[in-house]
Amino acid sequence: MKIIAVMAHSLSLIGSGNELPWGVPSDLANFKKVTRGEVVICGANTAKGLPKLPNRYVIAISNKLDNTTNADFVVKTFEEALEIAESYNKGVVMVIGGSKMLDSIADKLDGAVITEIKPELITKVDKPVYLTNKFMQKLLQTSCDVVMMQTDEFVVSYVGWQGDMDKDYLLYSYCCDKLGLEGI
Ligand SMILES: NC(=O)c1ccc[n+]([C@@H]2O[C@H](COP(=O)([O-])OP(=O)(O)OC[C@H]3O[C@@H](n4cnc5c(N)ncnc54)[C@H](OP(=O)(O)O)[C@@H]3O)[C@@H](O)[C@H]2O)c1
Repeated sequence: MKIIAVMAHSLSLIGSGNELPWGVPSDLANFKKVTRGEVVICGANTAKGLPKLPNRYVIAISNKLDNTTNADFVVKTFEEALEIAESYNKGVVMVIGGSKMLDSIADKLDGAVITEIKPELITKVDKPVYLTNKFMQKLLQTSCDVVMMQTDEFVVSYVGWQGDMDKDYLLYSYCCDKLGLEGI
């Protein structure tokens, strides 16, 4: 099972309360394209702010959360979430945040689709949530880092850690396909 992170940040800021710190419709459109038809895993705080995501299987991880969120499943551990993901037989699972969730599985990631939002688009920073140093360090230890898309609002990159460029390329191609890009 390949584990891919799919998230957006701006100078390592990823959240404000249980919301995103920006409103960028084209970023949301990309998120929908990449995660459509996929099994996605998120932390409890992210699940609380998540709208219903049709065409995705959403698994929230929490020791406390009852199933009053829009998640399809709530489990206590990442391993349990992977077991459910495996039953869908897709070969890929996408971890969509938030910060604590990404921190706890940073060492397990095979790849990531990372969107860097231009800082001038930040509009909400009431209760800021930042990526952790551990996750930022992980991003710096890349074996493969390719810009997929650049707009006036953001840059989307594929990041891989396989250490094997052929395998990296398979995941990179998979993510390009999801975004409707041809890739290199
Ligand atoms: N920019 C983006 O792409 C993006 C994506 C997603 C979320 N966000 C933002 O990120 C913020 C939320 O992030 P956050 O760090 O506060 O919370 P989070 O990671 O969404 O959730 C943290 C909680 O999830 C549970 N949890 C996480 N990892 C676990 C693990 N490995 N095992 C067991 N339980 C685990 C724990 O809940 P319990 O205490 O219930 O056990 C933990 O307190 C929000 O502002 C949201 O909008 C941004």
